[in-house]
Amino acid sequence: MLKMLDVKETVILQEAHRLYGLLRYVSKNKAQKWTYEDCLQMAPYTLSIQQFKKEQNAVILAHSYTTPDLVYGVADYSGDSFQLAQKAQQSSADIIVFAGVWFMAETAKIINPSKKVLIPAGKAGCSLADSMTGEEVKKLRAQHPGVPVLCYINSSADVKANCDVCVTSGNVFDIAQKMPGKELIFVPDMLMAKNIEAELLRRNTPKKIIASGGSCCVHDKYRTEHVKNLRAQYPGIKVVAHPECDIEVCKLCDYVGSTSGMMKYVSASTEKQFGMLTEFGLVNRLEAQFPEKKFVWPFGICSYMKKNNLLNTLQALIEPREDQQVQVDESVAKAAKKSIDKMFELAK
Ligand code: 13P
Ligand code: SF4
Repeated sequence: MLKMLDVKETVILQEAHRLYGLLRYVSKNKAQKWTYEDCLQMAPYTLSIQQFKKEQNAVILAHSYTTPDLVYGVADYSGDSFQLAQKAQQSSADIIVFAGVWFMAETAKIINPSKKVLIPAGKAGCSLADSMTGEEVKKLRAQHPGVPVLCYINSSADVKANCDVCVTSGNVFDIAQKMPGKELIFVPDMLMAKNIEAELLRRNTPKKIIASGGSCCVHDKYRTEHVKNLRAQYPGIKVVAHPECDIEVCKLCDYVGSTSGMMKYVSASTEKQFGMLTEFGLVNRLEAQFPEKKFVWPFGICSYMKKNNLLNTLQALIEPREDQQVQVDESVAKAAKKSIDKMFELAK
């Protein structure tokens, strides 16, 4: 049985009120918004997590694709994978609780080998990170000697350890452009590889991208019909997508960018309707931040990200299970850190 704080009813009501102020415009699912009753149920958990976090000098980082009770209830920072890697790098906390998927928490541990890094969801995978091993990267390298190797941050420590530079969706185009030569190996996202090739051509710095065969099981489901249907149903709608989507889909969109790039696009736009070809959590963040705008979301839920919840976050803080404590082999971590440090250097 988990230890919960013994808090006064008035404190719980105040917390529920705070949460409802943040979540009232946010969709819980396709049909419902978060209610005051939901917030009342959440409040004892968010209060307990906030208290245990303070006592242990822990920081909670939550990816935008986790659920809004985590993002708005307990996270110190939420954002995309690059922003959270930066926060992990800058943090002075003793413990990092990473509400996200395994490769993200693993990256935080590689950056901070002396800190305790916890992931509430345990070994939450990612169809991209799970698609390739370090050995397969070595083989690709051997087939293309001298060609620089970029790995998407959505990869295992072992893959990162065998690459030259790590990238995220927020900096992939700029870093790819900075690489020497006319060829580039990019792993493990074959759909993003096509988007890189197209973007570099558009920038007049073309390169041939040699890719492996992974894809994101959320973003690779979008088809050109989804964009066409959105435009037919909502005249004037702006359609945005993540670069993990198929290039034919991206070509039809008004904006293609990372999770934080999409937020910036919506924020800067005077338009009122947006079609979101991405994960539901980002739609929720936009609903919270821009209640005056309408977000149409055909579908797309990352079941790995959604394994994080208030209960396992509290439990990880109090008594973490072994699978919630991130460990990385020292020599792999050392080699992987080089590619992550190179990203921080080139992303400046
Ligand atoms: P971001 O780099 O945009 O956070 O993307 C991470 C991810 O997993 C997208 O599916
Ligand atoms: Fe991986 Fe896709 Fe989930 Fe992102 S949304 S964590 S790429 S499976």
